[in-house]
Parts: sequence; C-alpha cells; structure tokens
Amino acid sequence: MARRALVVGNGGREHALVRALASTGWTVFAAPGNPGIAADADVRDIPVSDHAGLVALAADEGVDLVVVGPEAPLVAGLADALRAAGITVLGPSREAAQLEGSKAFAKEVMIAAGVPTGRSQTVGSVEEGMAAVAEFGLPVAVKADGLAAGKGVVIAQSADEARAALEAMIDEGVFGDAGRTVLVEEGLIGPEVSLLAISDGTAVARFPAARDYKPIGEGNTGPNTGGMGSVSPVPDIPDHLADQLVNEVHRPVIAEMARRGIPFSGVLYAGLMMTPGGPRVLEFNVRFGDPETQALLPRVTGDLGEVLLAAAAGGLDDAPVSVAPGASVAVVQAAANYPGDPRTGDRITGVAEAQATGAEVFQAGTALDADGALVTAGGRVLAVQALGDDVEQARQRAYAAASLIHFDGMQMRRDIAAGMS
Ligand code: AMP
Ligand code: GLY
Repeated sequence: MARRALVVGNGGREHALVRALASTGWTVFAAPGNPGIAADADVRDIPVSDHAGLVALAADEGVDLVVVGPEAPLVAGLADALRAAGITVLGPSREAAQLEGSKAFAKEVMIAAGVPTGRSQTVGSVEEGMAAVAEFGLPVAVKADGLAAGKGVVIAQSADEARAALEAMIDEGVFGDAGRTVLVEEGLIGPEVSLLAISDGTAVARFPAARDYKPIGEGNTGPNTGGMGSVSPVPDIPDHLADQLVNEVHRPVIAEMARRGIPFSGVLYAGLMMTPGGPRVLEFNVRFGDPETQALLPRVTGDLGEVLLAAAAGGLDDAPVSVAPGASVAVVQAAANYPGDPRTGDRITGVAEAQATGAEVFQAGTALDADGALVTAGGRVLAVQALGDDVEQARQRAYAAASLIHFDGMQMRRDIAAGMS
C-alpha cells in the first residue's frame, strides 16, 4: 500500500514537499494547504496552531509520517504532541527547536560545540547593548533572540542605528517578550549560503548547498523579504566543501544536542557567511528553508519520503541525499507592496501555461475567489522553478516560464542566479 504523509503548512516550501512526495507515489494530506497544494494532496482546513486537530488528523488518516514545514509550531511543541500520540514526525522537539527559537541558545550551543560563528554578546538592556556595540565596532548586527518572522535582524551602520534597534527591541518590545533579549554580533562580510541537512539525532544527510536572495530589490537592495528566489548548487560551494561544512557545523551541533539530552531530529538548516576568515554560522533554522526547498527538492532522485521517514524514525543513512547533476533555480513572484502589507485579490493567469513548459509552479500566497479564480492572497505568491544542465540553463527556463504568468502589481527580481556560471 502506498505510504501516507501529512505535510503541515501552507507555503511554497510545503507545496514543494507535497509535490515531491506525491510524485513518488505517496498519498499526501496537507493542513492547511493552499489551492496549489490541493491539486497534489488532500487538503484539510486545520491551522498550524491547532496541535490537537493535527494530531487527530494524522491519527485518523493513519499516516506513516508527518512533515512540519514552518518553525512556529515546532517551537510551540507540535512534534512533541505528535510523538506523544505515537505518530512519526520529521521535526525537532520544542526544546531542540530552541536552536531556531532562541539565537542566544544557538550561540551557546555553537560555542560549546566549537562551531565557527561571529563574536557576540547577549544583552538585556540598551546600555549593555551599546557597550557591546562599542566593543565590536561597526557595522554591527542587532538580533532579537526569539522568532520574529524573519524581521528580527538589523545590520546597523552607525551607533545611532544600533541604539534605535536596541530601543525598539528591548524598551518597546516590537518583537514581543522573546525579542527583549538581544544578541549583538560583530558585522561579518561575505557571500551567504544555506546548507540544509536532515538528521535522526545521530546520522546526518545533507542536501547540496543552496542560495537564497533575501532583499526585495535587484542587486540585493531594499528591505529583506522571506526570500525572492533560490538556486542550487552554489558554484563556490562544491560538494567536498559542503561535506567539510557539515563536519564543522552540523555534526558538532547535533552531537552537542545529544550530549545535552535534547537530541535533534529533523532538518537543521545552517545560514552561513563565507567570510575571508572562514565560514561563520549566522543562524540555524530547524526546518526546510523557503525558498531554498523549492530549488532543492526537484533535484532529489529516488524516494524523498523514505529518507525523511528514516530521519524521523531513526536509522537514517549517513550520506548526502542523492540529487541529479545539473542545477535548479526558483524565482519568486510577490504581490504588490510586499514586504509591506501585501495587496491581495489580484487575479493570477498563466500558471498552467508556465507548467506546460516543464517548469514547476509552487503556490504560496494564493486563494480562490468567489468565482473560483486563482487570486493573490499573501506576500510571496508563487515560485517558478526549473531544472537545467547548469545554473544558466535552469535560470533561463525558470524565467521563460515565469514570463507566462501575470497578476497586477507582481514583483519579481530578474537577477536570481545571474552571473553564477
Ligand atoms: P539571520 O536571521 O541571523 O540569518 O540574519 C538575517 C540576515 O542578516 C542574514 O541573512 C545576513 O544577510 C544578515 N546578517 C546576520 N548576521 C549578520 C552579521 N553578523 N553580519 C552581517 N550580516 C548579518
Ligand atoms: N530562506 C530563509 C528561511 O527559510 O528562513
């Protein structure tokens, strides 16, 4: 009988997961999903915060595996609730999810494990923070400790900017209580890379390196977004270097977590900066990256679900995830005004035409209107992904397919994966 999975979440990352599982013969449920996901999975309208509802769905449908997409439910203990009900889940416990849920905790683990990361200090007042700024010099990173939906990091170019960020986080509590503890970190420079690996708590299986394009504007200008596109591989991070980074970063962290009695199983995503002084970990995420996953998963050969299941249940092969040679590029199409409050309700056309070219169109912020037409319903609306023999071919295919899709106010960077090969 076909294996059954439940994918929790409603974005492009979850659509890519659902597509990968469904295309290898899995029966897939998704909650809460979106109209694109509904084409590949049985979608149930249960929010990610409804842990009891998700546990009941997984139990009722007898799924073999639950994959949790976003970080918030992991930090809130969804994996624990599922495990307590005897359900196999890919995702860390609430305690282990603190690697993403608390930047101060992640720093402490990295230091204990000897993992290369920027010098930093955890502070609880503006004055303490300014003392750390004086010590590290400018530019300096000011980071809210807790989850801040990707908005909790300010790179301050002046002492005034650093003070303003510290005041907003600590005195005004713009990121809530979890943001009143702040990490001040030395400013680092260099290309960034996302290195994702899955673990069952001991073994580590990495994906190829990927790159995410965070700023809204071409040439990496303007405010940060959730990510405007992604590419894999990253030519400056060949496989042997990725293996080395996993040995220097993921393995020691996973060993340190096990030593502390809080084993980490799930996806450990290291956001790295390749500085002239060597790699430095900027942050950990405890789940698949978005949009990196939309570029990575279409490269996977074989049954991704079996690999995810092995990580979730124990007994994962300690070897990189098998991927096809070549490259993959995903280009995000975002709604008007994003990353501000996105305009919604704009009609989307051309998705089927784009897919007919052989590209994948992963849906994120989409909905069906009263007439059943596909409309924008969030910041990042779609990601158009294509494979190629090399980055340039994948990029050209992705943009050719993307050009067939239209909605009013669309924002799309034209320089994703440009100039890489
Ligand atoms: P994070 O959420 O910690 O990955 O930070 C978000 C973004 O801020 C990163 O992708 C980097 O572009 C930037 N960033 C984070 N830490 C630093 C740092 N110490 N120096 C310079 N830029 C940083
Ligand atoms: N690509 C950034 C993230 O998933 O947080």
